[in-house]
Amino acid sequence: MLQDKIKETKSLEELQELYASVFGKNGTMTARLKEMKNLDNDARAELNRENAELRELFKTRQTEIEEAVLNEMLAGQKLDVSLNSEPKNRGTLHPLTQSLKEIVAIFESMGYTLMTGPEIEDDWHNFTALNTPAYHPARDMQDTFFLENGNVMRTQTSAIQIRAMEKMGAPIKMFAIGKTYRKEMDATHAPSFGQIEGLYINKVEKNINLSVFVGTLRAFASRFFERDVEFRIRPSYFPFTDPSVEIDMKWGNKWLELLCGGMVHPNVLRNCGIDPNEYQGFAFGFGWDRLAMVKYGLNDLRAFYDGDVRWLKNSGF
Ligand code: DAH
Repeated sequence: MLQDKIKETKSLEELQELYASVFGKNGTMTARLKEMKNLDNDARAELNRENAELRELFKTRQTEIEEAVLNEMLAGQKLDVSLNSEPKNRGTLHPLTQSLKEIVAIFESMGYTLMTGPEIEDDWHNFTALNTPAYHPARDMQDTFFLENGNVMRTQTSAIQIRAMEKMGAPIKMFAIGKTYRKEMDATHAPSFGQIEGLYINKVEKNINLSVFVGTLRAFASRFFERDVEFRIRPSYFPFTDPSVEIDMKWGNKWLELLCGGMVHPNVLRNCGIDPNEYQGFAFGFGWDRLAMVKYGLNDLRAFYDGDVRWLKNSGF
């Protein structure tokens, strides 16, 4: 029977051939349909039914064969999705860059304006204007790289507070981030390291005093380290501040040196054309790579600058 023949076809070609022999120009069904007009009503109805049934059977078989072909193809092309793919290395921001971005965001939100200065400094901005004249013993506190023309590789970002006050006068609320250079190298000192400088000067009656300074820096540290930090304040000496303090922060059960600062020395204000009877304020400085070390629990400062990708990976970045 034709119905069985349709069901037994094995390929699309075979099916097409059979279809042509039934519904083609010279097909058996085609011929019968041409004679339809000579049939009585019942026979017509029967022919119509048969016609529709055959077409339906061809369609069904076609779908079956197509599916079988597809399944066979898929079975031959097994894909093992459990195989490891090529490892992909995704870059991230360097830990220093990451902490730098956080620091900038915090100070900016406190109303400090970011300023910059040159890494090659003249003697005036790096020392003299900071109340550190040539004979001053404090120059020995920092092992300076001197250039032949008498300029220096900036030893401290404090030079930028001088440039800022010369340019903007007072009141002023600025901070700066930059590289500084000193002849030293061990696990906690690199010859080039990042410093942050801050300066806030306002009218005397605004009373920007030492406790405002401590409060400001505590607020900063709490936000940067994402916890309430405990401070310890020690007296210190810097030519450009008076009084000068060093602030330690409690980390675990240890005290860590965090930052230095104090009330800006009247001579420094005077050197920048600001009247110390009218204005006062504080300044501070700290190493931002140190800050990143503490926050991310790293113990060798030099690793930050080696650019060793294995270290960067293992340090969790
Ligand atoms: N410039 C100092 C240093 O490099 C750090 C510092 C101390 C900066 C006191 C300040 C300050 O602005 O007031 O050791």
